[in-house]
Amino acid sequence: MRKNIVAGNWKMNLEFTEAEELTAGVAEQLEGQALNCEVVICPPALYLEMATDFAEESVLKVGAQNVSNHDSGAYTGEIAAGMLASVDVKYCIVGHSERRKYFHEDNALLAQKVDKLLDYGRTPIYCCGEVLEEREKENHFKVVEQQIAEGLFHLNEDEFSNVVIAYEPVWAIGTGLTASPVQAQGMHAFIRGLIAKKYSKEVAEETTLLYGGSCNANNAKELFSQRDVDGGLIGGASLKAGEFVSIVKSF
Ligand code: PGA
Repeated sequence: MRKNIVAGNWKMNLEFTEAEELTAGVAEQLEGQALNCEVVICPPALYLEMATDFAEESVLKVGAQNVSNHDSGAYTGEIAAGMLASVDVKYCIVGHSERRKYFHEDNALLAQKVDKLLDYGRTPIYCCGEVLEEREKENHFKVVEQQIAEGLFHLNEDEFSNVVIAYEPVWAIGTGLTASPVQAQGMHAFIRGLIAKKYSKEVAEETTLLYGGSCNANNAKELFSQRDVDGGLIGGASLKAGEFVSIVKSF
């Protein structure tokens, strides 16, 4: 079901006490507020249970940053979807550009990770987005289409309705170079069109599409006001409770 979501991707940041303070800070600042979006934090795996404990008492939802494509077994260092489910982690980022780049994750592997999450009733936040060179060569629509087709379009309509997509142009991540609202809207409308073509217009209208890439308290309102932008996946600006909550309140 389409809904507004603001999700914080903490990446590999913060030690335990800092993570606990940030979680508590966000939860406290959101308490009693009328919100127009779902709020998700995605801390490092080690802190997920701490975060889900807080989430029980607040409006916060918790997401992981990665998941294995296997169910269980001899995969040292990996974390399975069933494990995420067992500590009440609701969401999981899949295919972030940093995982694609540094850990060589390709669309075929990401499709398997999406399947595992859906098997265990978790919501994948599937990331897509072009690098600068691809945009300069005007290949960005083609690149995003391929990422989505190969990572998600094996799903049937029911399965697909449980997926969130995040468009994150790689040139905008951590660089301070945000996509303009027009650029973000253009890509989001294109993605919705792909979904309509593959499934139906109804399914496309019901899909949640997030924007990510240098989204902050100053630019969130304009980005989120675009017709096809249903919220954000926030990196750097999710590491300060005050700024993250300002972004949440942009809705
Ligand atoms: P950023 O990161 O907000 O720091 O650009 C976004 C992301 O990588 O999800």
